[in-house]
Amino acid sequence: MTPLSLWRHARLATLDGDGWGQIDDGALLVEGGHIAWVGRAAALPRELAARVTAEHDLGGALVTPGLVDCHTHLVYGGHRASEFELRLQGASYEAIARAGGGIRSTVAATRAADEQALFDSASRRARALMAEGVTTLEVKSGYGLSLEAEARCLRVARRLGRHLPLAVRTTFLGAHALPPEFEGRADDYITAVCEWLPALHAQGLVDAVDAFCENIGFSPAQTRRVFEAARALGLPVKLHAEQLSDQGGAALAASFGALSCDHLEHLGDDGIRAMRQAGSVAVLLPGAYYFLRETKLPPIAALRQAGVPMAVSTDHNPGTSPGLSLLLMASMACTLFRLTPLEAVQGITVHAARALGLRDRGTLAPGQRADFVAWDLDHPNELAYWFGRNPVQRTVFEGKERA
Ligand code: NIG
Ligand code: FE
Repeated sequence: MTPLSLWRHARLATLDGDGWGQIDDGALLVEGGHIAWVGRAAALPRELAARVTAEHDLGGALVTPGLVDCHTHLVYGGHRASEFELRLQGASYEAIARAGGGIRSTVAATRAADEQALFDSASRRARALMAEGVTTLEVKSGYGLSLEAEARCLRVARRLGRHLPLAVRTTFLGAHALPPEFEGRADDYITAVCEWLPALHAQGLVDAVDAFCENIGFSPAQTRRVFEAARALGLPVKLHAEQLSDQGGAALAASFGALSCDHLEHLGDDGIRAMRQAGSVAVLLPGAYYFLRETKLPPIAALRQAGVPMAVSTDHNPGTSPGLSLLLMASMACTLFRLTPLEAVQGITVHAARALGLRDRGTLAPGQRADFVAWDLDHPNELAYWFGRNPVQRTVFEGKERA
């Protein structure tokens, strides 16, 4: 029998069910990287207690599931601080993109960077997210835009998961922008993206497929072709949808059973209905909303009323959201988007896991991965309350305490 370790003296917020799932005087029993039992310490069954080989005192800390950042573009070269200055002087994000800046400038910097440099910068960013309790991280490609450079970025993402105590999920975002060598030939570029996908998948580099469906990105018809290529390989899809305009992208993605539709400031009722029917998660990205000084709010009340699960993520990227605090995003989801603190915390745990198609994390329950965080907080609603402060005390990843 595998040894059991008991993590006791905790105030648990399990997030299992509709509410916080608070259990005072709580304990967690961990077996081989998974939670074997969770509940009030006094209710621990005798036969399990007899098998405990290690005990850890959590000192009465608040304990939640490990945080899940379900939408990042973590691997890239350079930064775009000058573009930020241009935008502050009045240039729009779209105008900069159309003039060949924006994503394309990061593509140039990423192509120029070698794999080690990309790994070093991405692992510094990953560590910043981990310091705030992130245990699962999604990383998209999309700044390489050639088979070789996309593969390099996805390899870096995989390597992060091997070298850090962190679970990494990769998403192929070849259809992020048109690279200069395909200028005026967007359909040909989509053909290339659809051809690269099986090769990248064969190398074990792809967990999901994404696209940027937008006036300055790709049309719904082009997005559909990418999704068909994904479906042919049995890969799940997600979409940067309705960020700057309503393209009907969410409904399209939902028709492919999308795990999530992300951004959604311009989402309409048809999209909401389609997402509800498909069970797609709405991933809200308040960092991009803030940094682009967007004023159109995503339709939160309608999503809530339809029962579409809402996740919250950093969208970390150098153009629209250069932030590395998932807790700040939870706070901003409340202040800017009017989520409740419970919705915001579900958004960075259980619903974020669902946005990645993962059902083995995001709550504290038997059978779930033993990824959890002890916080210097009284109540879990404080996760969306403090900002600019890191209340993490200890993080446990796959049953082992992270240094
Ligand atoms: O999620 N909108 C498309 N993609 C990114 C931004 C990419 C960039 O500007 O570099 C986003 O906002
Ligand atoms: Fe994004």
